[in-house]
Amino acid sequence: MSLSIKDLRVSIDEKPILKGLSLEVGLGEIHAIMGPNGSGKSTLAYALAGHPKYEVEDGEVWLDDVSLLELTPDERAKMGLFLAFQYPTAIPGISMANFLRTAVNAIKGEKNGDGKNKGIAITEFRKLMTDKMSLLKMDKEFARRYLNEGFSGGEKKRAEILQMALLEPKYAILDETDSGLDIDALKIVSEGVNSLTGPNRSFIIITHYQRILNYIKPDFVHILYNGQIIESGGWELASRLEQEGYDNIIKENEMEAV
Ligand SMILES: Nc1ncnc2c1ncn2[C@@H]1O[C@H](COP(=O)(O)OP(=O)(O)OP(=O)(O)O)[C@@H](O)[C@H]1O
Ligand SMILES: [Mg+2]
Repeated sequence: MSLSIKDLRVSIDEKPILKGLSLEVGLGEIHAIMGPNGSGKSTLAYALAGHPKYEVEDGEVWLDDVSLLELTPDERAKMGLFLAFQYPTAIPGISMANFLRTAVNAIKGEKNGDGKNKGIAITEFRKLMTDKMSLLKMDKEFARRYLNEGFSGGEKKRAEILQMALLEPKYAILDETDSGLDIDALKIVSEGVNSLTGPNRSFIIITHYQRILNYIKPDFVHILYNGQIIESGGWELASRLEQEGYDNIIKENEMEAV
């Protein structure tokens, strides 16, 4: 069981962004992807989620034994893929509780024999949501507010993790969930993520900072540069980056490429 990305090439408005990216994420593993601004990290996340603006030119992506690129975004989500956005959008007029319940029903709802979605009962959902909210130390008031409207940066990130906790995906991609979090929020969010780790769930954590990796220990760290993974290693690679920045690693790889 794995998420297997092979030689993925993705362009936006005909500009190549991912230039042959390969990555193998085994079920139960935690991978971190680091890389300079504009290197293609969010592009990878969006392309996997199936955003129509991100044109897949070539390559393969296998989720377990299913070819992901042939699926619609909602089919991908039903297969257990989840993306926490770098910039979550507000949806005025829809309360967070409503949004989450609709999402849970769409992704996890059991089907009746007649094919209609019977969904989760309101009381059961409320309990589930309140449990997860207290795990993430979110005020209950948030459930009633419109999704992300007027949420602070950190509150939006927490709402993303709450959604993840309710959907229980198999493969979760967190795009800079740590940025904008204060130190207490970072700990709470990390604890939330850690409580979800296990042999049946994988994480791809996109980040700029080693900070979050002190709380969520990755099995592998990859450096994405100019649309390709140029280096992979363990946790020590993140700590080397923190000390040295990207320059040395990029130079080494350019020398190797010559
Ligand atoms: N919708 C878009 N239209 C045009 N160009 C885009 C679009 N989205 C991304 N790009 C370009 O693709 C490149 C990669 O962007 P991407 O968002 O994947 O980078 P990133 O590694 O996530 O950067 P950051 O660390 O700043 O989040 C950038 O040069 C960006 O300007
Ligand atoms: Mg990004």
